[in-house]
Amino acid sequence: MGHHFFITAAKGLEPLLRDELDGFGIPDLLEGKGGVSFAGSLEQGYRVCLWSRIANRVLLKLDSFPCTSPESLYDGIRKTDWLRHLGPDSSFAVSFSGTAPEIRNSHYAALKVKDAIVDQFREHCGRRPNVATEEPDLRINVHLSKKSAVLYLDLSGDSLHKRGYRTRGGQAPLKENLAAAILILAGWSEICQRGGGFLDPMCGSGTLLIEAAMIAGEIAPGLKRRYFGFLGWKGHDAEIWQSLYEDAARRSRDSRSKIPRIAGYDIDPRALRIASENIRNAGLQDLIRIERRSIDEISAAQNSQNPGLIAVNPPYGERIATDQGLERLYSSFGEVLKSRFTGWRVAMLIEDRELGFRIGIRSRRPYTLFNGAIECKLLTLNVDPERFFVPKIQA
Ligand SMILES: C[S@@+](CC[C@H](N)C(=O)[O-])C[C@H]1O[C@@H](n2cnc3c(N)ncnc32)[C@H](O)[C@@H]1O
Repeated sequence: MGHHFFITAAKGLEPLLRDELDGFGIPDLLEGKGGVSFAGSLEQGYRVCLWSRIANRVLLKLDSFPCTSPESLYDGIRKTDWLRHLGPDSSFAVSFSGTAPEIRNSHYAALKVKDAIVDQFREHCGRRPNVATEEPDLRINVHLSKKSAVLYLDLSGDSLHKRGYRTRGGQAPLKENLAAAILILAGWSEICQRGGGFLDPMCGSGTLLIEAAMIAGEIAPGLKRRYFGFLGWKGHDAEIWQSLYEDAARRSRDSRSKIPRIAGYDIDPRALRIASENIRNAGLQDLIRIERRSIDEISAAQNSQNPGLIAVNPPYGERIATDQGLERLYSSFGEVLKSRFTGWRVAMLIEDRELGFRIGIRSRRPYTLFNGAIECKLLTLNVDPERFFVPKIQA
């Protein structure tokens, strides 16, 4: 106990993050705008860094103080004993967000924070740490709101959606934690436990395929990351981290056999080359099969003994130039589902509800999710003939 954490998540994913942290056994979670906070141990903070599929950042609160001007910001930052957190030969970075009446420019405010830290080192050691924007030893995060500044250490260091397997994204890739959110909301854990397979018929760079395998195989999303914000921090407890890490490595070895059949298709050979590279980076090349196929060439028989899950993020207007073929693509996807995938669950992230309608299968109440800045709907449906309808196409 004794530490206060704020775990950030993309807009709309806060409730899912809360459920995930609850599943880690963390009590008294407080959900707010942009994330979830709790009081807990360093071990719990590290666990979130290693195991959260949804979070963006893990922030450890150091202090909060009234802040209305650049001077009060400087004084407030100097109150912290920085020598407890950082060596004079280390590197650090400052991220600043928010405004106050006399603090409008976040770049200038971040410089004030940096000055306060550097001046303290100069006074006490005659030397000072350097600023590094890429993979600093310590990332300091200051958030200003309602004339109060909250000072955090960013234990994640870099956003946790970067799992370490993606070298190239391809065209309009999903963020890894959004892909995981789609799978969790679609009920993938239950489907794979009862032996259902997984299919993404427009897999692009393979994000949904890899995240599906990682969930099924209990692979910690942070297992392949080599950088975290706590590794260069003086307060880092290497023993706790090592034990969590070894446990996660063991679990991923032991649960590999739980990964069911996972297949991805795409019409674009370049996308498949990128997917293949990412799958290899994730060490999943013997478990995920990818092939060049158009949407109308897929069938359940090629994929799973039991009905499984299809999760897909089809092309949509804003990110991939719209063509008249988009409407036809959704219609033929609907036809393929109706004729060849009875009993399967489908989750589709779409921007345009009208296009979703072309599928011709009634879905449940959609979830609102944000793909970057784009507001999307996640449609989930069961391929059940009782829910089929013939879409009326407006002329
Ligand atoms: C939005 S991207 C998917 C991105 C993917 N979820 C990722 O994270 O990288 C849509 C994909 O659909 C593919 N596609 C478009 N039309 C297709 C068709 N008729 N059959 C199969 N794939 C198609 C495109 O090549 C593209 O890779």
